[in-house]
Parts: sequence; C-alpha cells; structure tokens
Amino acid sequence: EKDKELIRGSWESLGKNKVPHGVVMFSRLFELDPELLTLFHYTTNCGSTQDCLSSPEFLEHVTKVMLVIDAAVSHLDDLPSLEDFLLNLGRKHQAVGVNTESFAEVGESLLYMLQCSLGQAYTAPLRQAWLNLYSIVVAAMSQGWAK
Ligand code: HEM
Repeated sequence: EKDKELIRGSWESLGKNKVPHGVVMFSRLFELDPELLTLFHYTTNCGSTQDCLSSPEFLEHVTKVMLVIDAAVSHLDDLPSLEDFLLNLGRKHQAVGVNTESFAEVGESLLYMLQCSLGQAYTAPLRQAWLNLYSIVVAAMSQGWAK
C-alpha cells in the first residue's frame, strides 16, 4: 500500500508531461545500448541520434510507452487485468527484434528518468516501489517470448 502511494504520488506530475520525460528515458536507453536505436526502422535515415529522438514516429513510440506506464499506475490495484495486453505487447516486441535482456537497461533508464525529474523526492523506498511495479510489467511482457 505504501508502494502504491509512492508511485501514484510521483506519477501525478510526471504523467502530465509524458513526452519530455519519455525522451529523457529513451535518450538514456540509447546511451546504455546504442544498438537498440536500429530496431526502430524509421530511424535508419536519421542523421544523428538527436534527429532520431525528435522524429515524429519516435516521439509516438515514446508516448505509447508512457501510456503503458500510465495504465500500470492506474491499475495498481488490478494489475492482472493488464496481463493479456502486456503479453501481446511482449509478442510485438519479440517480432521487432527486442531481446528480454534489454529490459534491464529499460528499467535502468526508467529509474534514471525518475531520478532526474523527482530530485530529492527520489528516495530508496520510492525506487524500490517502481522496481517492483516494473518487474511485474516485465514479467507479463516476457510471456510474449515464451515458446
Ligand atoms: C511498438 C521498439 C520498449 C510500448 C514498438 C515498435 C518498435 C518498438 C520498433 C513498433 C513501431 C512503433 O509502434 O513505433 C521498442 C524498443 C524498446 C521498446 C527497441 C526497448 C528495448 C517498450 C516499452 C513499452 C513499449 C518498455 C511499454 C512498457 C510499445 C507500444 C507499442 C510499441 C504500446 C505499440 C504496439 C502496437 O502497435 O500495438 N516498440 N520498444 N515499448 N511499443 Fe515498444
């Protein structure tokens, strides 16, 4: 319950500004693993990482990611209801060439974004609360890779 309060409280302001926060998250992700950029086919003719990060299709994906996080936050009392959706989302990512190992870096990037935007409010219990939620989302998406 304490976890849920921490997550809801921190998402309240973040969730109002999804795209810029999502861009911080994905910029960090591509720093950790530049190869992931190549999975976005519409970025192949970008001049630089910065150009890609501001392409409309890319920003659309960022928005999609943030909406999934938003859905998880608003279903904290009812996460199993998202399982089918997340399993299918996992399948789509398997199809575009994402490996489940990349989720570790995605998680790190999520925490990095939270830390950047929350500052002092980014505490150890808050970090743990988000990690717990993230691991539930990843577990559900990972079902999409099961044979
Ligand atoms: C779709 C890549 C992580 C949510 C896609 C697509 C690509 C992609 C190439 C298809 C093109 C598009 O819709 O833009 C990646 C990569 C990731 C990643 C490389 C990191 C390793 C995530 C995460 C989430 C997410 C963490 C949310 C938790 C979505 C959604 C779609 C999508 C909602 C649309 C699926 C649909 O069309 O129904 N992703 N993605 N992605 N991604 Fe990701």
